[in-house]
Formats: sequence, structure tokens, C-alpha cells
Amino acid sequence: MTLPTSFKAAVVPEPHAQHTITERSLPPLQPTHVAIKITATAVNPVDWKMRDYNVFLKEYPAILGSDAAGEIVAVGSEVTTHNVGERVFFQGILANYNASTFQQYCAMPAELVSKTPSNITDDQAAGISLATVAVVTGLYDQTGHGIIPPWAPNGSDAGKGQAIAIIGGSSSVGQYAIQFARLSGFSRIITNASETHHEFLKSLGAHVVLDRKTATAEQFKAASGDLPLRYVYDSISGAETQALGVQIAEASGVAQKVVIVQSVDENAKKLGESKTPQVSIGMILGLGSNPALRHLSEPMVRYLGGDDGCIAKGLYTPNRVRVVDGGIEAVETALKLNKDGVSGEKVIFRPNA
Ligand SMILES: NC(=O)c1ccc[n+]([C@@H]2O[C@H](COP(=O)([O-])OP(=O)(O)OC[C@H]3O[C@@H](n4cnc5c(N)ncnc54)[C@H](OP(=O)(O)O)[C@@H]3O)[C@@H](O)[C@H]2O)c1
Repeated sequence: MTLPTSFKAAVVPEPHAQHTITERSLPPLQPTHVAIKITATAVNPVDWKMRDYNVFLKEYPAILGSDAAGEIVAVGSEVTTHNVGERVFFQGILANYNASTFQQYCAMPAELVSKTPSNITDDQAAGISLATVAVVTGLYDQTGHGIIPPWAPNGSDAGKGQAIAIIGGSSSVGQYAIQFARLSGFSRIITNASETHHEFLKSLGAHVVLDRKTATAEQFKAASGDLPLRYVYDSISGAETQALGVQIAEASGVAQKVVIVQSVDENAKKLGESKTPQVSIGMILGLGSNPALRHLSEPMVRYLGGDDGCIAKGLYTPNRVRVVDGGIEAVETALKLNKDGVSGEKVIFRPNA
């Protein structure tokens, strides 16, 4: 297996346009990078948002995709941690087209690449990294809740004796948030979701799953019992869920911050400011390649991946996947499926099939 001089990429030729398939090549591999044949790439909401709203993209033709799995085909001269032939999964780098994943090959800094354990498929591995980095940023970075991560000393007990509210547990982000809350040792993990996902979310670690159509802030508070409910993480972050997050924080009596994953809604912000004590809303951006987040993203790839990581031990479960057949040509169908709305699953396509 070697890196070919040219391969297929799905490109957005100009703002808002549909994808076309073209040939491209990668520049010479940097000493600290690995080249990867992409066997499966996940679709995330950010992909169609970048295309449809022309955000993050500075140059066209553009390549989207930043969540994938594959096989290493070349390693840079200074890489000692990875070998050719290894299965890997990783978060690509937004707007860095050599590290984007809607193409057949890409190059990544080796330290941001997890080794895929043998108990999961590449299709499953492809949808782990991006949403997980949003969770790790929201729970453990200072821009989020600033909790000690579970791989650090005492981190696996950081949530002991405490409750956490995770809004939108069936979303891709929500499923990983529940699992990291469990790995952080939270004594009560409370979420909301459609009835059909309740048992599955309990299997991931949720203690209480409320009905997402009717769940109130008071029900979240009641579900925490005598435990302090200090943390609120909104995996959906629409106007309605941000307002619910503020209300949960108020009802808890101790939570003062709602961590969200989309832009702050002005009405929810004002609602938070009207409370005593005030409840702030903080948006996080989970870009694992960002130098300011390397303190989390680098240990995270080792904590989850490899034969002795959380995934291999059965402690971290990938999202369920929906594979769109058709190789790289499936890009638009896959994007549309995600944009039209998925329920508890990750859309995947296989650029090299
Ligand atoms: N800031 C960042 O770094 C970052 C990173 C990743 C994602 N995001 C953002 O996070 C959001 C979620 O992304 P995702 O990939 O996890 O989404 P997703 O899996 O596509 O979300 C769909 C799921 O959300 C559930 N849902 C929708 N509205 C809900 C509500 N009001 N209450 C509870 N559950 C609700 C749906 O439940 P049903 O099954 O009941 O329909 C469905 O299971 C997106 O806006 C995305 O852009 C941000």
C-alpha cells in the first residue's frame, strides 16, 4: 500500500455549489505527519453548514469532511508512533484541504491520529472523533466546564457524588457526552431523548432518560435527587434547548454555566442574565488541531484508541452507523441524509469503495 500520485476528491467548486469529483494529489509528506487512505468518512452537520452558509472556507474549490477512518500508507521521517498498514481514525482539520476527509487520501499530524482497535469496523470508527472532541472540549477545557479529564490523576472520580444534565442524549454528540460523563465517574447522568432511544442511552451510561418532548427543568432537578447538579451540557444548542439549559441551571441552584455547541441564542442569554445568580452560556468549538486544545486532543486519541484504550475495553461505544453505498460519488446523498435529519445514527460513506 503506497500513496498514489493522484486520487479522487469530492470538491465544492464555489460557495453553495454541489460537489463534483476531481483528481488531486498531496504535497510531500511533512516529517511529523502520516498519509492515510480513507476507507470511511462520517458526515457531520458542520459539513453542510460550511457549504450552505460559506463558513470556515477561505478558498475554492473546497474540500469538506473532518471525521474519518482509514489505513496509514506512509509515515513522515520523524514519526515513531505509527506504522504503515495500521488502521486509524481521526478528526480531520477544517478548511485544511490536505487534512480533509471527503477524498480518498489525506495527511494528518501523527499525534492527532488514534489507532483503531480490532473490535470495531472502520465504518464505526469514522464517526467517533469530531463529536468526541466537542464533548472533551465542552467538559474538560476551560472554555467549557473545566472538569479534570478522566485520563488525568483523579479524573475518573471527578464526577463522583455529583449529577450532570446532558440535553439531547440521542444525538451523536449526546451519546459521547453520556459516555464521557460515565468515564468521569458522575454519580447521576440525566439526559432527554425520544422514547425509542431510552434503553440504548441507559446502556451507554445514562441513569435517567427523560422524554425530550415533555422534559422540564424541574424533572432534571428532581432526577438528580440529593446530588448537586453542577453541570449542564447542551448537545443540541437550538434556541429551545439553550433556554431549557438555563432553566435546568436555575432549578439546580448550583449550576452557573450552560455549555453549548452552536452559536449563543440571544433570548437564552438574556434569560440567563435575568437569573440570580446569573447563568452564563458558553459556546465551545471542538477543533482538536487547534494548539489551544492539544492538551486534550492528544491524550484523548491515546485514551480511546489502541488495543488497551477505552474502545478496545468496551468502555466507549461508537455511534450506530448508516452506510451510504456508491463510493466517493455518494457525497451529496450522504450530506442530504444528515441535513434532512438523523435519529441516533451517523451517516458514513466510503471514498475508496
Ligand atoms: N461546536 C462544536 O465543536 C460541534 C461539534 C460537533 C457538533 N456540533 C453541533 O452539535 C449539534 C449536534 O450535532 P450531532 O452531529 O450530534 O447531531 P445529530 O446526531 O444529527 O442530531 C440529531 C439527534 O438530535 C436529537 N434532537 C434534535 N433536537 C432535539 C431536542 N430539541 N432535544 C433533544 N434531542 C434532540 C434527535 O433526536 P430524535 O431521535 O428524537 O429525532 C436526533 O437523535 C449540531 O448543531 C452540530 O453542528 C458542534
